[in-house]
Amino acid sequence: MTDQIKITDSIYYVGVNDRTKALFENLWPLTRGVSYNSYLIVDEKVTLIDTVDICYSEQFFRQIQRIIGDRPIDYLIVDHMEPDHSGSIGMLKKWYPNISIVGNKLTFKMLQEYYDISDNLITVKEGDTLNIGSRELTFAMAPMVHWPEVMFTYDPKDKVLFSADAFGTFGSLDGNVFDYATNLDFFMEEMERYYACIVGKYGKFVQKTLKKLDSLDVKTICATHGPVWTDFGFKKALEVYDRLSKYEGKKGAIVLYGSMYGNTAVLADHIARGIGSKGIKDVVCYDVSRTDASYILRDIFRYKAFVVGSPTYSDNIYPPIANILNLVKIREVSDRLVAIFGSCSWAGQAVRKMAPFQEEMKWELVGEPYEIKGAPSEDELLKGYQLGQQVGDRLNELFPED
Ligand SMILES: Cc1cc2nc3c(=O)[nH]c(=O)nc-3n(C[C@H](O)[C@H](O)[C@H](O)COP(=O)(O)O)c2cc1C
Ligand SMILES: [Fe+2]
Ligand SMILES: [Fe+2]
Repeated sequence: MTDQIKITDSIYYVGVNDRTKALFENLWPLTRGVSYNSYLIVDEKVTLIDTVDICYSEQFFRQIQRIIGDRPIDYLIVDHMEPDHSGSIGMLKKWYPNISIVGNKLTFKMLQEYYDISDNLITVKEGDTLNIGSRELTFAMAPMVHWPEVMFTYDPKDKVLFSADAFGTFGSLDGNVFDYATNLDFFMEEMERYYACIVGKYGKFVQKTLKKLDSLDVKTICATHGPVWTDFGFKKALEVYDRLSKYEGKKGAIVLYGSMYGNTAVLADHIARGIGSKGIKDVVCYDVSRTDASYILRDIFRYKAFVVGSPTYSDNIYPPIANILNLVKIREVSDRLVAIFGSCSWAGQAVRKMAPFQEEMKWELVGEPYEIKGAPSEDELLKGYQLGQQVGDRLNELFPED
């Protein structure tokens, strides 16, 4: 059949594309959809690795049946219980009532809580194996990447790692599923956005899990979203995960502002130009009301410096800026440079109220936070430019080679 996609002789891709959902987790825009990847290993036993969102179960089962016909599925391995992957388990049990479900203790607690399923379970822990004929699948726990029950399944015969959401990206798989056969630039960008939004808080756990991979001979990574990683793009994917999970910002700055009437915006531009004047090429300036939070978070993970400006709004930080600061806090992004500015009309509060953010994050403050009243004067614009220059200088000190 034309839609049979083989990863290896015995491993099939049986995932689906979702171009209907507007917001992933009802939060993050899916500008070009998302895929829910599932994989079928046809050996002496038939083994399915994860399922798909319930909305796509019909298409999913038909795809599986085209491959195995009336043969039953012997095992379902549940690497991740989030409903974008576990959503079809209930239906799967109806289609294949004798299926055994493989997971760890936490998987099964959630399986009961979400789907009231508690029979035919095979509990595995770190290092356990499952013989499915000509191969012994092994299991490695990957807690908090990005849920507590997450585990990886490794097939030592074909050297394939099934990595749950790790190395996942947004974007549907159009035309092909392999990294070498897709527009990788797009997926690399989307991997960063996915990481920042979905996995971001758990850098330490990602690092621990990456160390485990060192001992495995992996040729192909099959994640639950986005392309299948072969030796073509594999190293790039690992590099992104390693860099982002270490919270390693590159030489560059994101200047983020909120502005109702344009005054804070003008100042932001001057600050950005001050940074640029120091030879920093990667300067991105975003209006918080125009650029979605997911892209802002992606760039906060990407760049070392964060400059933030807010008008005072009913004695407070402008709400969309406060939202971003909160999202950054939740993700525990570490080791950044920060500069703060703001505006007001009668009693400034925004700058004062942003100070605890810097203290809590323990980021290095560059320059003096300052606030303007009404429209920025020429002096105030110059001050903004100079603040930008300070940020640029500090970046040049930190990255002398770049
Ligand atoms: C709904 C609203 C609430 C505001 N609340 C305050 C306030 O509590 N204190 C203050 O000094 N200015 C307040 N301002 C004034 C703005 O901070 C001021 O107009 C600032 O220059 C706006 O910057 P912008 O031109 O970048 O939007 C408020 C403005 C609006 C529209
Ligand atoms: Fe997930
Ligand atoms: Fe997922």
